[in-house]
Amino acid sequence: MSADPFEPQAPGARTGHPGGDIGSEEVMGHGAMKTHFDEPSIDFSVDQTLLTDNTIVEMRSIAARYPEVRSALLPMLHLVQSVEGRITPAGIEACASILNLTPAEVSGVATFYTMYKRRPVGEYHVGVCTTALCAIMGGDEVYSALQDHLGIGNDETTDDGVITLEHLECNAACDYAPLMMVNWEFFDNTTPQSARDVVDALRAGVEVTSTRGARVCTWKQAERVLAGFPDGRADEGPTAGPASLLGLRIAREKGWSAPPPPKPDAESSNGEEHNA
Ligand code: FES
Repeated sequence: MSADPFEPQAPGARTGHPGGDIGSEEVMGHGAMKTHFDEPSIDFSVDQTLLTDNTIVEMRSIAARYPEVRSALLPMLHLVQSVEGRITPAGIEACASILNLTPAEVSGVATFYTMYKRRPVGEYHVGVCTTALCAIMGGDEVYSALQDHLGIGNDETTDDGVITLEHLECNAACDYAPLMMVNWEFFDNTTPQSARDVVDALRAGVEVTSTRGARVCTWKQAERVLAGFPDGRADEGPTAGPASLLGLRIAREKGWSAPPPPKPDAESSNGEEHNA
């Protein structure tokens, strides 16, 4: 009897498409529509932590950047991941204590956003976009090829702890579809072979640069940058390539410009608010 496509899948399960779980592009009756919300939740039985006194000092320094301290929660969770390799109960408790939130409020946020991980992430997080445009341009094949090559399913990590594989939703780089990201660095116009070459190099300890020039750091290092502690490498490689700028170039050649913004009406120009 085949598995219920809507049942949460245990780690290690690779149900769905014969080539593996290809995620949200799967349609009912043809495989599992496994998403972030089907994954097991945070393991609250974990009592070990790598958080140190210095981590707590850094968490407080993040909180001090915001007039409303609860606004610091997202970067603080990234800092937790940069140390723990995932969201842990200790990380949730620390955030809640510093921000005067309840642990339930923190865990509600940490389990909502897909960038916060419930299980340990490998040294490199490899994400393949399988949203519509990338899927049509070959993203499904890239993702399936990596599953077969690495022998892991969605959100799973290779036995050597180096690669965690995940199918991603659109990363706003559709002009370079199909897109793969390693620790959030772009790998444009990916093919199954180029994706295999990248993960092989990472597992062999060879330095890898994204197709836009930036060197790939570890996932924990990337998480620290997302927490607001720059590594000084933000300008490595161009951020926008010719495909991203094509519309701008055509507009310039043709003398097109955006229409001017509407003038504020008399009421709002007096500083009064509108009620819709
Ligand atoms: S659909 Fe893949 S980056 Fe937008």
